[in-house]
Amino acid sequence: MEEIIRQLEEKRDAARLGGGQKRIDAQHAKGKLTARERIEFLLDEDSFEEWDMFVEHDCTDFGMENNKVPGDGVVTGYGTINGRPVFVFSQDFTVFGGSLSAAHARKICKVMEQAMKVGAPVIGLNDSGGARIQEGVASLGGYADVFQLNVLASGVVPQISMIMGPCAGGAVYSPSMTDFIFMVKDSSYMFVTGPEVVKTVTNEDVTQEELGGAMTHTSRSGVADKAFMDDVEALTQLRRFMGFVPSNNREKAPVKPTADPANRPEMSLDTLVPKNPNKPYDMKELIFKVVDEGDFFETQPEYAANIITGFGRIEGHPVGIVANQPMVLAGCLDISSSIKAARFVRFCDAFNIPLVTFVDVPGFLPGTSQEYGGIIKHGAKLLYAYAEATVPKVTVVTRKAYGGAYDVMSSKHLRGDVNYAWPNAEIAVMGAKGAVEIIFRADRDDPEKIQARTDEYQQKFANPFVASAKGFVDDIIRPHNTRPRLARALRMLRNKKLDNPWKKHGNIPL
Ligand code: COA
Repeated sequence: MEEIIRQLEEKRDAARLGGGQKRIDAQHAKGKLTARERIEFLLDEDSFEEWDMFVEHDCTDFGMENNKVPGDGVVTGYGTINGRPVFVFSQDFTVFGGSLSAAHARKICKVMEQAMKVGAPVIGLNDSGGARIQEGVASLGGYADVFQLNVLASGVVPQISMIMGPCAGGAVYSPSMTDFIFMVKDSSYMFVTGPEVVKTVTNEDVTQEELGGAMTHTSRSGVADKAFMDDVEALTQLRRFMGFVPSNNREKAPVKPTADPANRPEMSLDTLVPKNPNKPYDMKELIFKVVDEGDFFETQPEYAANIITGFGRIEGHPVGIVANQPMVLAGCLDISSSIKAARFVRFCDAFNIPLVTFVDVPGFLPGTSQEYGGIIKHGAKLLYAYAEATVPKVTVVTRKAYGGAYDVMSSKHLRGDVNYAWPNAEIAVMGAKGAVEIIFRADRDDPEKIQARTDEYQQKFANPFVASAKGFVDDIIRPHNTRPRLARALRMLRNKKLDNPWKKHGNIPL
């Protein structure tokens, strides 16, 4: 017995040491934490239960039979974040560069399967050189097993990827199928093929950072949702993020008690929207002022900034917020913003998070690049997502709601539960000037007539009354009352039940 205990401790020590002190030092020298330190930082103190610490690979080629490290380059198990269970895998770059062997993949699959059974999120801390080269196709099979589980778990339990080192080749496709991808600045990158292959095939000179660094993916490609300064900030923010999402698709997101009164008026909102309808204002100000304690976790802040997406709380209950941003492209919907918001809406709908939508949208962005790029199909994604969503949907039109974009932005017609408008809202097919140029084309050479017609159109449609007379807007609310009215609406909707017709799955325009 004593001998076995001694061997056990030896094995544990070997596993804890991963690829050895030298490689741990190298990891630290790069400003990175080790796989185990990351888990400790992420989870509640002493909550981590490790699984498969003694798993070894079974590769016998290229001298690998004599080169085994217990755990095989990934630390897996479960623990809690603020008392709520989560499953974690954390790749250990000090062991064969965190590369994925068949055994390594089996460890990941094991936690994913268990997470689905018990209904707990899966968090992947990715730091890996990709497929274990010595294992060849066995490793590729391992990847595919993980991909398959990513798809089966999608919409069942939240899956979150934190990219904390290299993530290349096939390795990118597991994170890409998870719900949110976060990255660490300067130490993480993701690409399908690295700079050398790019150089050979396309003759482009590009660095790892340019090709797939955090800035690239949070501002250019839209692959990642947010970037953080370093491992510590990333893991701290990940803990915060997890407080907005439920454990699985049958539960609601956790309620966080707040001292912020639900009926708090916010007088400054009465002057948020400028008199001149062509002048922008910062929609984020409205968001920060209506959510509990100004706590808003924005997703994709650097990408398609003409639409804002993120999580906040009202009366302690998490909500997903989607809002047009008049400061960027006048808040128009375009390809990138439609895709960004559609995916966000679908996440909220899959995980029972009510949607609050703030609308100030002059329409879809015109232009050949948009049309050739397929705005019809991509804009339809957002329309589809809102129309399909059965979670509580509360909408506030703060200014413009023009054209097809009016319909798209969680309108009454797409089963919006409660639709409010501020008194200065303009709900119409388009702006007065554009409308008059079309319907009174014959008068175009008579500026006086055009002006009179424009004034008439403005008078008739640049207000919330036409839409409210038809019941498309439930009430016209004073801006300073937005938070109390949202709180009341969301309270009323707390037990909302709505089912879509049975189907295998819909066919969202991809
Ligand atoms: N399979 C097996 N071992 C791997 C590996 C892989 N895919 N990727 C890295 N390693 C090993 C290295 O051999 C090295 O081992 P050592 O410490 O015993 O020398 C260790 O991991 C660290 O790698 P190193 O190259 O020294 O680290 P780096 O920070 O300089 O570079 C990478 C990291 C990921 C850029 C580089 O290792 C790399 O290009 N790996 C291959 C990536 C790839 O093509 N993977 C297959 C795609 S699916």
